[in-house]
Amino acid sequence: MTDTAKITLGDKTVDSPVLSGTVGPDVVDIRKFYAQTGAFTYDPGFTSTASCESKLTYIDGDEGVLLHRGYAIGDLAEHSSFMEVCYLLLNGELPTADELKTFDYTITRHTMLHEQLATFYRGFRRDAHPMAIMCGVVGALSAFYHDSTDIQDPHQRMIASHRLIAKMPTIAAMAYKYSVGQPFIYPDNKLSYTGNFLRMTFGVPAEEYEVVPAVERALDRIFILHADHEQNASTSTVRLAGSSGANPFACIAAGIACLWGPAHGGANEAALNMLREIGRPERIPEYIARAKDKDDPFRLMGFGHRVYKNYDPRATVMQKTVREVFDALKVNDPVFEVALQLEEMALNDDYFVEKKLFPNVDFYSGVILSAIGFPTTMFTALFALARTVGWVAQWNEMISDPAQKIGRPRQLYTGPAHRPYVPVSQR
Ligand code: CMC
Repeated sequence: MTDTAKITLGDKTVDSPVLSGTVGPDVVDIRKFYAQTGAFTYDPGFTSTASCESKLTYIDGDEGVLLHRGYAIGDLAEHSSFMEVCYLLLNGELPTADELKTFDYTITRHTMLHEQLATFYRGFRRDAHPMAIMCGVVGALSAFYHDSTDIQDPHQRMIASHRLIAKMPTIAAMAYKYSVGQPFIYPDNKLSYTGNFLRMTFGVPAEEYEVVPAVERALDRIFILHADHEQNASTSTVRLAGSSGANPFACIAAGIACLWGPAHGGANEAALNMLREIGRPERIPEYIARAKDKDDPFRLMGFGHRVYKNYDPRATVMQKTVREVFDALKVNDPVFEVALQLEEMALNDDYFVEKKLFPNVDFYSGVILSAIGFPTTMFTALFALARTVGWVAQWNEMISDPAQKIGRPRQLYTGPAHRPYVPVSQR
């Protein structure tokens, strides 16, 4: 590949540098393009635009590859733990045994919330969606932890990152407890990150809560699968919010808001609702036909991806995990059979083959989370919990990047040109 790209616009030709990453497509550096030509580039949805340089996560969508700091997601899901992946994303390397112990200790010691935050919860309607509560509570953390909001101080950034990762399970579990009218359960430092979350969610003060190891492992793996995913919509939202110098708690609240949408994190909730609505394998063809019908807005939820044009490697692990959880809990939800048959039928259908639509991470995650006992409204909250490490790692990377500027896209304006104001009496 040449190291410059020649772009001709009218009678002007400009040379734009071509930059290469470690792997993946080269990028044409168009930072000076407007100054040189007076024209903007146009790319709504960022389908051809790299918004930043990053060392965290690499996706090859055609091959179905996802790497965190160079490690394949399948290897991490099989051999690692969520705490280890958090350390890896934040620090760039897998921890030694001592480093992992220290990191785990630090996160465990930050899991409690300021007690006044419990009062904050009581301001929400009882039937509030957990994501509505999470947007509010995470944003409110900045009012409680002023000592970690100076973003220019790397130490404060690290404390804020640890706080966010540590408190997210407590916040999500409290959102659930509030919605079912049960008392909040405080964290228990003897338990693992994931075991603690299960106990805070499903435990009650009247009884001892026993963490089922297979469920703890499955949920930990689900957290690993959701930990980071390159410059997706919510991560880009966190970066854009952070580019103005906003504090990390506010930035993560912005990421949570973006994640909530059904085209992004909300798809796991939508996918399970769809599978339940289909209900029986005989009804699958009807839904496939609807998904293919241009006049019907219905889409197969949990299918298709902006980047993966192959099987999402996270979906492979998810499908395996469904069986493990079903075996451990001795459940057999017919919805799994519907999911398997729907996948098979879609993968053999020309429409899905031609458009390269494969199951994504959300297709099977709802089936597992539902078997564990989470209501559908909690699914996206769990995604937010796990993605928090990716968000803070990307945010830290951005703040540390000397090339970082406030994000400020331009536009193709198609509204009225300048026109004289007409007084109301003359309109
Ligand atoms: N069912 C039926 N048709 C689909 C689907 C689907 N799930 N997804 C895409 N298509 C079609 C779409 O109609 C379009 O057809 P045409 O070219 O004829 O207009 C073509 O495939 C390309 O779709 P697109 O909307 O232009 O692609 P996109 O990259 O903008 O959208 C997506 C990606 C994930 C938003 C989309 O595939 C979708 O809506 N999927 C369902 C929701 C979902 O599962 N989201 C979770 C994404 S993974 C988790 C995450 O990263 O948050």
